[in-house]
Amino acid sequence: MKALCRLKLFIARGLCLSLKCFCIFACNQIYCFRSDLCILLLLRMSPISTVRNSSYMNRPLVSYRSGRHFLQIPGPTNVPDRILRAIDRPTIDHRSAEFARLGHDCLEGMKAIFKLSRGHVFIYPASGTGAWEAAIVNTLSPGDRVLMFETGQFAALWRNIAENFGLVVDLVPGDWRHGVDSNVVEAKLTEDARHAIKAVMCVHNETSTGVTSQIGEVRRAIDSARHPALLIVDVISSLASIDCRQDDWGVDVAVAGSQKGLMLPPGLSFNAVSEKALAASTLARLPRAFWSWENMLEANKSGFFPYTPATNLLYGLRESISMLVYEEGLENVFRRHRRHAEATRQAVRAWGLELLCLEPREFSNSLTAVLMPDGFDEANLRRVILEEFNLSLGAGLGKVKGRVFRIGHLGDFNDLMLCGTLCGIEMGLERSGVPFRQGGVAAAMNYLNRRDPMDSRSDT
Ligand SMILES: Cc1ncc(COP(=O)(O)O)c(C=O)c1O
Repeated sequence: MKALCRLKLFIARGLCLSLKCFCIFACNQIYCFRSDLCILLLLRMSPISTVRNSSYMNRPLVSYRSGRHFLQIPGPTNVPDRILRAIDRPTIDHRSAEFARLGHDCLEGMKAIFKLSRGHVFIYPASGTGAWEAAIVNTLSPGDRVLMFETGQFAALWRNIAENFGLVVDLVPGDWRHGVDSNVVEAKLTEDARHAIKAVMCVHNETSTGVTSQIGEVRRAIDSARHPALLIVDVISSLASIDCRQDDWGVDVAVAGSQKGLMLPPGLSFNAVSEKALAASTLARLPRAFWSWENMLEANKSGFFPYTPATNLLYGLRESISMLVYEEGLENVFRRHRRHAEATRQAVRAWGLELLCLEPREFSNSLTAVLMPDGFDEANLRRVILEEFNLSLGAGLGKVKGRVFRIGHLGDFNDLMLCGTLCGIEMGLERSGVPFRQGGVAAAMNYLNRRDPMDSRSDT
C-alpha cells in the first residue's frame, strides 16, 4: 500500500514536471512566434524590403538601390563627405568662446565668397525664401516702387513676396529664355526722374531656366541713369559656382542659400549687404523682427547671433569656406563650373535637343535647362531616369513645367560625375522613346579631353 502510494506520488510529480516543461516550451514557442512576427512585420515595413506591404495602406515599398544616388538637380547639391563629417560633431554652447570663433570664421569667410570688403554678411537659419524676405523688409517701406524682371519662376516667386509686403512692383515681362535687359533698366530709371523706384531687384542665375543675367551691365545701366535705386540681387544658384562680385558690381544686397554652390544641406541663407544698404535699413519702415539686421549686427560683432543659430550647419559652412576659398580657390571653382557647363551643352547639342537659354553669353554655368521635343513630357523622362538609373534631374517649373528638364552641374562635382549624369540621360532618352541622336556623352568627353578646354567667357 505504501509502495503504491509512493508510485502514485512519483507519477503525479512526473506529470507535474512534464506539464511545467510543456508550459515553458509552449511559452518559448509563443515568444519565438511573437518575435518572428515582429521581425516579419519590421521587414515588411522596412524601406529596404522588396515585399509589397498589403497591411501598410497597400503601398509598394521602395527596393534597396546599390551604389550612390546621383543628385543632379540644380540644388540641393551633393554634400561632400568632408562637410558631412564637419557637421557630425557635438553641438556646442552658442554663447561660448568656442562658438564665437566659429561665428567669426563664418561671417568673415562669407565676405570672401561674396567678394564683399565693406558691409556685412547676415546668416539666417532659414531657406533662401527667408533671405528674400529679409532683403525686402530691411531696406524698403510700404508703397515703395521696385523694378523687377520676369526672367523665370524664381523671379515670379520673389515678386509675389514683394507684393505681399505692399510694394508696387514695376514688372518687366520676359519670355523665360533671356536674362535682364540692361537697356530696359537704363530706360526705366532714366524715365523715373523723381526717383520713385527704390530698388532694382533681379535674379542673377534663374534656376528655372538656366539663364544668367549680366549684373555688371545692370550696374552700369543704373549708373548711366544716375539713379540712386538699391541693387538687390538673388545669387542663390550662382554664389560659389558663377562669379559674383559684390563690390565690383555695386550690389547692395545679395541673397544666397546654403544648398547650391556652397555644397551644404539646405537650412542656411544669407544677406550680403553694402554700406549703402545698411544705411537704407535705418530708414526702411516695413515691419521686421526675426529678419532684422539691426539685432544681428550687434550680436555678430562678437561672433554671436541674437537667437539660437544652426550651429552644426555653421561647422559645415566653415568647412565649405575652407574648401572653396583656401583650398580649391574661387577662380578655379568658377573655371570648373564653366568647363562642366560647356561639356553639358555640347552633349545637348549632339543629342539634337534645344537649350532653353537663347543667348550664349547668358548660358548658365551651374545648370542647363533642356527643351523636350514637342509631344514629349519631361516628367516621364525624369521618372524613367530615376527609376532605371537612380539619377535625379530638375523638373520643369512654372510656365515651362512639362517642357523642360534641368541638369544641375554645380557644387561638389567632377568629370566622371558629369559623364555618369550624361550617360544616365542618354540611356533614359533611349528608354523613354524620346527622339534624339546618340553621341552626347561622346561629345562631352571629347570636350573634357581637350588639353585646356576652359571656357574663356568671363562673367560680367
Ligand atoms: C534662384 C533661386 N531663388 C530662390 C530660391 C528659393 O530658395 P529656397 O527654396 O531655399 O527657399 C531658389 C530655390 O531653388 C532659387 O533657385
